Amino acid sequence: MIRRGWDAIARWRDARMGEEGDLWHRALVDPTFLRVVGPVRGRRILDLGCGNGYLTRRWARAGARSVVGVDASRASIALARGREKARPSGARFLRCDSTRLTGIPDGSVDLVASNMALMDLEDAAGSIREVARVLSPTGRFVFSICHPCFDLDDRSMWVVERQLYREQVWRKVSNYREERSVEVPWKISESDWGYTLTYHRTLATWVRYLRAAGLVVVRMEEPAPLPEVVRKSPQGRFLLEIPLHLVVEAVPLRLAGAARATGPQLRARGSRTSGRTSRAAARRSGSRGRMRGTGSARRGPTTGS
Ligand SMILES: C[S@@+](CC[C@H](N)C(=O)[O-])C[C@H]1O[C@@H](n2cnc3c(N)ncnc32)[C@H](O)[C@@H]1O
Repeated sequence: MIRRGWDAIARWRDARMGEEGDLWHRALVDPTFLRVVGPVRGRRILDLGCGNGYLTRRWARAGARSVVGVDASRASIALARGREKARPSGARFLRCDSTRLTGIPDGSVDLVASNMALMDLEDAAGSIREVARVLSPTGRFVFSICHPCFDLDDRSMWVVERQLYREQVWRKVSNYREERSVEVPWKISESDWGYTLTYHRTLATWVRYLRAAGLVVVRMEEPAPLPEVVRKSPQGRFLLEIPLHLVVEAVPLRLAGAARATGPQLRARGSRTSGRTSRAAARRSGSRGRMRGTGSARRGPTTGS
């Protein structure tokens, strides 16, 4: 049987993600994503496209001041609320579209975090505008997506060539410039397939969307697999050479401008030095700014591995 949309695969996804994430989340994307997110204590966080909300709840437990998970899928939000009820963390869950975050006031969020959801949003530009609206002037937007240069769904593939003593791995990509949506198949049981839509955009388009919303990129990371992925996933060792995911941090343009004007601050931030160093740099620059010193990812061939 074929099912379509996020609601149709929500239960299967929830069972797979649990409270820790599946293999690709837990041991590939999340370690880098969470490192870029950084400490969350005292922060007001919005988890955009939260799915079953396992990270939303983790941030609530880690001492965030408030955490709201939003998702357009009614079934996913129901499952997230069910988990929250069974083991309360303080997280809240709202069903709404990413382009209209109703109930989230302007400038009320310190961190919008979105793990592996943005490439699945039909109106990514509108969603990023909405992110910029809810972000506080010193807020940050951290998101992970399928790598726009290396993971183009059916237009990218591994090529493995074997010579006598060595193996060479290539990632073949075609039609990179063509932005389009494609259906992603998920094998949800022996006889059932679920399909969801995903949208390829070029790297330049992502940066353009951010700039149009008044946000600029200050950091990019390309997650590398932990040994568990290399051991367990058929693609694991290829991922050591070529990344399939991208983690991006963007901040309001005004803030980035302020950081540029106070060079040491930006350098301290960029190199993710300790909170103490960041604060020292901020003191040197005479600015308080933002340097407070606080400190199934997709997607293998449908099985997510
Ligand atoms: C690949 S899942 C990621 C979920 C979660 N962040 C995780 O890592 O497990 C993408 C999520 O985006 C949500 N989504 C898709 N379109 C949306 C929209 N327009 N507004 C809000 N959420 C949306 C889906 O319902 C789905 O839960």
